[in-house]
Amino acid sequence: MNVCIVGTGYVGLVSAACFAEMGNRVVCVDVNPSVVETLKAGKVHIYEPGLEELVRRNNEQERLHFTTSLEEGMADSEVVFITVGTPQAVDGTCDLSHVEAVAREIGQCMTAPKIVVDKSTVPVGTADRVRAIIAGELGRRGVDIAFDVVSNPEFLKEGDAVGDFMKPDRVIVGSDDENSAKVLGALYAPFARSRDKLIIMGVRSAEMTKYAANCMLATKISFINEIANICERVGADVSEVRTGIGSDSRIGYSFIYPGAGYGGSCFPKDVKALISTADAHGYDARLIRSVDEVNNAQKHVLADKIIAYFAEQGGVSGRTLALWGIAFKANTDDIREASSVEVIRDLTGLGMKVRAFDPVAGERAREELGRLANLEIVDSQYEMLDGADALAVVTDWNQFRNPDFARIRTLLAAPVVFDGRNLYQPVRMGREGFAYFSIGRTP
Ligand code: UGA
Repeated sequence: MNVCIVGTGYVGLVSAACFAEMGNRVVCVDVNPSVVETLKAGKVHIYEPGLEELVRRNNEQERLHFTTSLEEGMADSEVVFITVGTPQAVDGTCDLSHVEAVAREIGQCMTAPKIVVDKSTVPVGTADRVRAIIAGELGRRGVDIAFDVVSNPEFLKEGDAVGDFMKPDRVIVGSDDENSAKVLGALYAPFARSRDKLIIMGVRSAEMTKYAANCMLATKISFINEIANICERVGADVSEVRTGIGSDSRIGYSFIYPGAGYGGSCFPKDVKALISTADAHGYDARLIRSVDEVNNAQKHVLADKIIAYFAEQGGVSGRTLALWGIAFKANTDDIREASSVEVIRDLTGLGMKVRAFDPVAGERAREELGRLANLEIVDSQYEMLDGADALAVVTDWNQFRNPDFARIRTLLAAPVVFDGRNLYQPVRMGREGFAYFSIGRTP
């Protein structure tokens, strides 16, 4: 099949590379010429395990192409995916300007029937809006070309994006048109191998499914974080409680890991967007609003523990914290809405010096946080511990899971560890001679 993908972010580029890998001819369109040049050279501008190899191979084998021209991208394509960014607007709603601009250009370039697919995360009703924009442009040109707009939300996770796309739990196709659903079903057949993985539904239900899924997952995380906060106060251990409740198959083990709050470009934005959508339709989404509030507070829990610990020793001002993990989670260089940023802001704002290390997000952090006073972003995991008053772990990178504790103890000025992801066992840390503070577990 000939496919055009507009936007080469995580969703666009991963979808393009995976469709190409299955033998389709895919043209990726991006407005940024330097991104297009980088991709043509077989390099990838985002950090995503396994993606660069996939892009390079399919590029070399001429199934994957890159261009800045939507007209060129659309020329032979039966299906056009919109995978551009939908950032959060200042008022918490979803900013659709990029999606709308692409829809306008599609209407201006279309010369033959197309299936247009909304894959960006977009509020309910956007497919209708895209349809109206394209129809408006065709009308202005005085041409009558058949087209359909389908909703096909994406559920991949950063860091596992290629694997998630190749082996999805489900593929959602929101379409009121039998032929469009059939074409999308054929395109996804190599991925959604068992028939029941392809779920066809109404367009608005598909759009809503994306928000409901992300809000449900965010709810699980805020729920366990709230339980963790109660555990600390009553002397229970949230890790034990997690195992206890996860064993109930109705609850399950996944996405109930407590921590320093959820971040990234999806949960925080999508939770706020659904609250706004509900508001706009006269409904107060109280539960989802609370999920957001709990998370906003949770991002400060680790810094509060550090502040409380040093309060008895004259405060954090002038002291140095070594911080491991800046990315919003492991296996990504993405620091959008990362909990580390709140920890850093809280502490540097009080005059604490923070030395931060991340296995891959250091460069990005330097670009975005480099100007913050009292913050130094460093490249070595151990040397940065030298003389620091404590270590805080904020991201669950594997290389932090089993570190050289003896070396940490020797380098730190005092053996104090704050663990925002519960990577270590309190008993072991006690045995290793550390004062150890984690989430939802009494020291
Ligand atoms: C999330 C969803 O998991 C994907 O299904 C969805 O497609 C994507 O958003 C999106 O809408 O594009 P992502 O943001 O890449 O994926 O990352 P997650 O693995 O879901 O993690 C999000 C945050 O939750 C991270 O900060 C992570 O540390 C935190 N988290 C996750 C927890 O605190 N506890 C958990 O048990 C799980």
